[in-house]
Amino acid sequence: MIFVAGATGNVGSELVRALAAAGTPVRALVRDPDNARLPEGVEAVTGDLNRPETLTGPLTGVRAAFLLSGYADMPGLLAEIRRAGAEHVVLLSGGSAASGDMTNAVTRYMALSEAAVRESGVPWTFLRPSAFMSNALRWLPQIQAGDEIRVPFPDVATACLDPFDLAAVAARALLDDRYQGEILEPTGPEALLPADQVAVLAGVLGRDLRAVGLSNDEARAEMTAAMPVEYVDAFFDFYVNGSLDESVVRPTVLQVTGRAPRTFADWANAHADDFR
Ligand SMILES: NC(=O)c1ccc[n+]([C@@H]2O[C@H](COP(=O)([O-])OP(=O)(O)OC[C@H]3O[C@@H](n4cnc5c(N)ncnc54)[C@H](OP(=O)(O)O)[C@@H]3O)[C@@H](O)[C@H]2O)c1
Repeated sequence: MIFVAGATGNVGSELVRALAAAGTPVRALVRDPDNARLPEGVEAVTGDLNRPETLTGPLTGVRAAFLLSGYADMPGLLAEIRRAGAEHVVLLSGGSAASGDMTNAVTRYMALSEAAVRESGVPWTFLRPSAFMSNALRWLPQIQAGDEIRVPFPDVATACLDPFDLAAVAARALLDDRYQGEILEPTGPEALLPADQVAVLAGVLGRDLRAVGLSNDEARAEMTAAMPVEYVDAFFDFYVNGSLDESVVRPTVLQVTGRAPRTFADWANAHADDFR
């Protein structure tokens, strides 16, 4: 039995589908079972990742667990996983965890989550992916409102990754002990600027969309309205100070899954209805 946290999210929902398609028994952690759409045969369980004591039942009998980073009591969460007798944790972390810069709020939660997993004694695999293609869904309100898409950090290219491919890597790691003790860094197939992504979306949606780059001051104002300032600072550190280079293309998806990673056009075509 494999436990999947975040089973209704971009990555977790793809992972549940991948594992179910592989014929593996899956237990999916959801918060709202009435509205969670899961493949047939997948067992839904409820619990709160911020309250490890709610996961005792959901974790009973699991062989391996897929976990997200950054919840309130990661050591407590890992203690529940260990107590359940799980033999492997696959943790979704992020590329910045490598720097260990604890002054950056995003890096800090990733690094602390990795440390909790390492210290638990449960064998692990860490996934440090590049930015997700699904981040483009943030543009949905703008796309619905008009053709101009205001983008922060217009000069920063990312080898963005389809959550489908990240989930395929996670599935291999969960099903195959050979990745224990490894840090996998899956990326997409090419580095794209925000304007490149907007151009692809324009083609897929048959719209005259165009990207308008925000200045750093404009980006800071818009982001501060949407998230805590420590996260705004973290993204400025990544993309303006250049502490995180997500433009590097790595062969991980091909090496682990035997398939080339999907392009942004593949992702956009698969998710076109989400933008309409
Ligand atoms: N976006 C990127 O570019 C990027 C890059 C590197 C790493 N990451 C990491 O990847 C992670 C997953 O990304 P994603 O796009 O799949 O996220 P997502 O779509 O926002 O999904 C998050 C999932 O976690 C669940 N969840 C949230 N809080 C919970 C709680 N307290 N208890 C139980 N379940 C809870 C949500 O459930 P509900 O459906 O009930 O809300 C949802 O299923 C991110 O959190 C981030 O740390 C992201």
